[in-house]
Amino acid sequence: MDQIDAPGWDGEFAVARYDRAASAWLILALHSTRLGPAAGGTRLRVYPDFRSALHDAFALSRSMTWKFAAADVPRGGGKAVLALSRPLTPEQREGLLMRYGTLVAELGGRFYTGPDVGTAPLDMDVVARTAGPFVHARTQRAGGAGDSGRWTALGVHSAMRAACAAAFGSPSLRERRVLVQGAGSVGGTLIDLLLGEDAQVMLCEIDPQAAAPWRDDARVRVVEPAAMLDTPCDVLAPCALGGVLDLHAVQRLRCRVVVGAANNQLAHPQVAAALHAHGILYAPDFVVNSGGAVAITGMEALGWSVAEAEAQVCRIGERLSAVLGRARDEGIDLHQAALRAAADRLRIAPRETGN
Ligand code: PHE
Repeated sequence: MDQIDAPGWDGEFAVARYDRAASAWLILALHSTRLGPAAGGTRLRVYPDFRSALHDAFALSRSMTWKFAAADVPRGGGKAVLALSRPLTPEQREGLLMRYGTLVAELGGRFYTGPDVGTAPLDMDVVARTAGPFVHARTQRAGGAGDSGRWTALGVHSAMRAACAAAFGSPSLRERRVLVQGAGSVGGTLIDLLLGEDAQVMLCEIDPQAAAPWRDDARVRVVEPAAMLDTPCDVLAPCALGGVLDLHAVQRLRCRVVVGAANNQLAHPQVAAALHAHGILYAPDFVVNSGGAVAITGMEALGWSVAEAEAQVCRIGERLSAVLGRARDEGIDLHQAALRAAADRLRIAPRETGN
């Protein structure tokens, strides 16, 4: 018999509800409310089985805790996974999102959500019909702050400049060969920012529709997915799904720097040490990809102006530089250093009272 436990998960609680109408699982994992109410995106996609969806929710919720701690924003970590067994029609999808909103409402403000892989501000409008005030990044028409992807890209860009300063002696991205994996809401904006700085952009995208805006753009070289890891470049920017970096990938990589938006890029934590040993500067994902969550939470819940949000997101490069300094001082890899910094914040934070 399978053991009943949650191996490796140290979160507070999780809820799984089966939605018969859509043959889907709604999984909500609250990792930590130590720094504030938990916040995290809603991921919606087909999963091969329940276990992998649960595993994703656990790992992603933990990263949200680290992300907010690293960014010094008073929010805890959580994540929702809407695990489909098959693609849905628009009507089925809408029904599912509304039933999911009811679940968010039932948590009464312990969990705030926003968009993630497979969802967008329009979906957040739908979720908010039943979830009420606990939904971030609704469309501007519905009174929300809109897309978070652009903000995430801005933060990744700031981090990329800081990483290049450390690896190449200059933050400039001019003529830098940057391979972007994934042209979704974050990767797409990142490509535009990079082109604006005259970087040599390469794009690897499995979805032809997402790659379409750059198909006829002579400034963007398209790289086949099978060749991605072996393609020589200065910077690799994973902006698609997680788990891209495992020990095999480390052997194949021909880049000096990895800075990207994808959550949970490391297949397991030891990969960080392997990257370090290979002389590859891996910028911890949860430090560099916080721009969307930070800016939207700040503007919608903490009273920040747009200018304040921008200033916070543009500090992500500095935060990465601090992590680089700590790694150097303590003789550890960047992932460990970022974890230590996040753990320090979580330890000294006063415990939330009342629950
Ligand atoms: N997808 C975002 C992330 O992983 C989640 C998020 C977006 C949370 C917007 C709050 C607001 O960081």
